[in-house]
Amino acid sequence: MLEKLADRIRRAREGVVLTGAGISAESGVPTFRGKEGLWGKFKPEELATMEAFMANPKIVWEWYNWRRELMGKVKPNSGHYALAELGEWFEQYTVVTQNVDGLHRAAGSPRVLELHGNIYRNKCSECNHLTPDDLEIDPTHIPTCTRCGGKIRPDVVWFGELLPEGTIEEAFAVSERADIFFSVGTSALVHPAASLPVIARQHGAVLVEINPEETPLTEFADYSFRARSGELLPELIGLLRRKGGC
Ligand code: OAD
Repeated sequence: MLEKLADRIRRAREGVVLTGAGISAESGVPTFRGKEGLWGKFKPEELATMEAFMANPKIVWEWYNWRRELMGKVKPNSGHYALAELGEWFEQYTVVTQNVDGLHRAAGSPRVLELHGNIYRNKCSECNHLTPDDLEIDPTHIPTCTRCGGKIRPDVVWFGELLPEGTIEEAFAVSERADIFFSVGTSALVHPAASLPVIARQHGAVLVEINPEETPLTEFADYSFRARSGELLPELIGLLRRKGGC
């Protein structure tokens, strides 16, 4: 199956990858769902909504500082590096990620659309003005916006919020054009991200899924690998390199 996929890749022009928390699992970043997932231990409505932030900004910032610290210690894994390399086989190539950890850029992927923001950035909770990336937040003294005085919050998408303007439109555009669409390490449950592989397939893309577990996408996939991304993706790159062509 991997050989066949490698042949398809060599004939394709545009590739798009959608990633979720699973791609970073082998780096040590917890996923959201599943036995050890964050949403099994914490309540999203108490930590990842605007209402939660307005009611208790200290707790919300403590949680994001904990996640920043955790993510600050991890490094990209072989799956992130393989996805950066995969771009060499396409004329156009985009990594669309739901992750906020910045690991695709750290691994060298040149074109990354961050659908759910970036945990290292801060913005104003009122006017959305971005503040310096390296601003550390003391949860007991949350800084306010220099423009409007609103409280500073992490620049991530919370439940009930719209995705960053322009980014989601671009993600839909590349998905519609894709010859091959890879869905990697996502439970494919959270929309609108989960609609991208479906849209790509409807527009004629070959759909590839890499996930140790089945997802709602599995039945629509042309190639579905029950595997860890950090193992399967380097194998795919190895195969592409042996076959030449790039
Ligand atoms: P989930 O936690 O829902 O799903 C992670 C997926 O990764 C699961 O399907 C796992 O089976 C799979 N997985 C685990 N280890 C893997 C590995 N080594 N290789 C490949 N796959 C592996 O995470 P997301 O799909 O990213 O949103 O969740 C989507 C959104 O829901 C997140 O961006 C977040 C969350 O609420 C916001 O915070 C807005």
